[in-house]
Amino acid sequence: MKTAKFSRLGFILAAVGSAVGLGNIWKFPYVTGEYGGGAFVLIYLITALFVGIFVLIAELLIGKLGQSDAVSMFENLATKHKKAWKWAGFVVIVPLIILSYYSVVIGWIFHYIVISFEKLPTTVKESTDNFMNLLTSDYQTQLFYHTIVFVLVTAIILKGIKNGIEKINKILMPLLGILLGILFVYSINIDAFVDAAHFMFDPDFSKLTSTGVIVAIGQAFYTLSLGMGIIITYAASLPKQSNIVRSSLIIAIIDTIVAIVAGLIIFTLLFDKGAQSTKGAGLVFISLPSVFYEFGGAGQFLALLFFIAIAFAGITSAISMMEPTVLYLIQRFNMSRTKAAIICSIFFYLLGIVTLFSNITEYKPLLNVGDKSFFDWVDFVCSTMLVPCGGILVVVFVGYYMDKTKIRKELVPLMGKTFVSIWFFMIRYIIPFALFAVILNETGILNS
Ligand code: PHE
Ligand code: NA
Repeated sequence: MKTAKFSRLGFILAAVGSAVGLGNIWKFPYVTGEYGGGAFVLIYLITALFVGIFVLIAELLIGKLGQSDAVSMFENLATKHKKAWKWAGFVVIVPLIILSYYSVVIGWIFHYIVISFEKLPTTVKESTDNFMNLLTSDYQTQLFYHTIVFVLVTAIILKGIKNGIEKINKILMPLLGILLGILFVYSINIDAFVDAAHFMFDPDFSKLTSTGVIVAIGQAFYTLSLGMGIIITYAASLPKQSNIVRSSLIIAIIDTIVAIVAGLIIFTLLFDKGAQSTKGAGLVFISLPSVFYEFGGAGQFLALLFFIAIAFAGITSAISMMEPTVLYLIQRFNMSRTKAAIICSIFFYLLGIVTLFSNITEYKPLLNVGDKSFFDWVDFVCSTMLVPCGGILVVVFVGYYMDKTKIRKELVPLMGKTFVSIWFFMIRYIIPFALFAVILNETGILNS
């Protein structure tokens, strides 16, 4: 490897930076609302612990033993069928594609930071109109902020592992913690906090469907950035002495805490003003802005803290989506980091422009396929289909195609023989099938 290594703290912060993103602050609260609150949260916690942490350990293991780009690692570590396994490494293209619309969404957040400064919507109707206008006709604004994200992400990646990725995470992650901390303390002091807590922690299993269980598994993968070569790539720059089991626990626990805290904050603010938990984008971009106004002077301040917090979470995830492909180009094609970074950023920037225009009313008919916009297709195919596929590749690879003696040598000192056996059992026999169920569900086969 030509690139520098992370420091131990730097690695943890970078991995947490990748994990904590829009998935925690925006998606987790709304799927929780959609799939029945407490029961869903419980299943999510169990899956994050039993599926998420186990796969995190598997991905960190590949990175630590492989120490290269994702494609080379699959190729080099495979005990047989090396040439075929090399292809598994090409999952790195998935996060780069996700980045194209993730960047557009971070752009909306930037726009809402400005709105929080200027003028918050005063009614739900105004809030809805604002957002729909941004989404379906105001491409100038979206293009402007998408370009800013493009410049920021490129600039950070150009600086490399140490001075770019590690440094920005060391700054933004603690700040994110402080912002969420302030918002959380504010929420605890509101009466509706109790309702929010009941909503999130009282498991009402009659509301939980089998789809809910499977969504929880998918969410555990998405939220931990698994199945996309991201953790694998970051782990390739792990310092020698780091403990991958402890790192996995820390990453998963912090990611989970952020999701729960974000949920409590959002539901407290909504319930306090008697607002509904609208689905999807509406939760953060429509419902929330309209209740901020009702908090008077404090509302503007809360809105600012909130949108700045999501922006930080989004940027640190965005850079992690680009690094795997950049590293692949550097390692396999001997490219300079500058050249590799520019190729990748232009790719996601242009694709992002297409996705952005796919929501604009005039262009929609040109870019729609079936009943989904191009934007929704990219999101659906990548985050719901390809992420679990990537997860299956990882567990099948580690469970059946890697050198067992090497794995035991690495893991037994960290977690003892019994736990290694349990972990192996899960990786080989349980997780591949659980993920397969997620894919069947997403394609609608289980629902028909
Ligand atoms: N884990 C991130 C989140 O929760 C999303 C993500 C997906 C990050 C893919 C990197 C790669 O928002
Ligand atoms: Na996350």
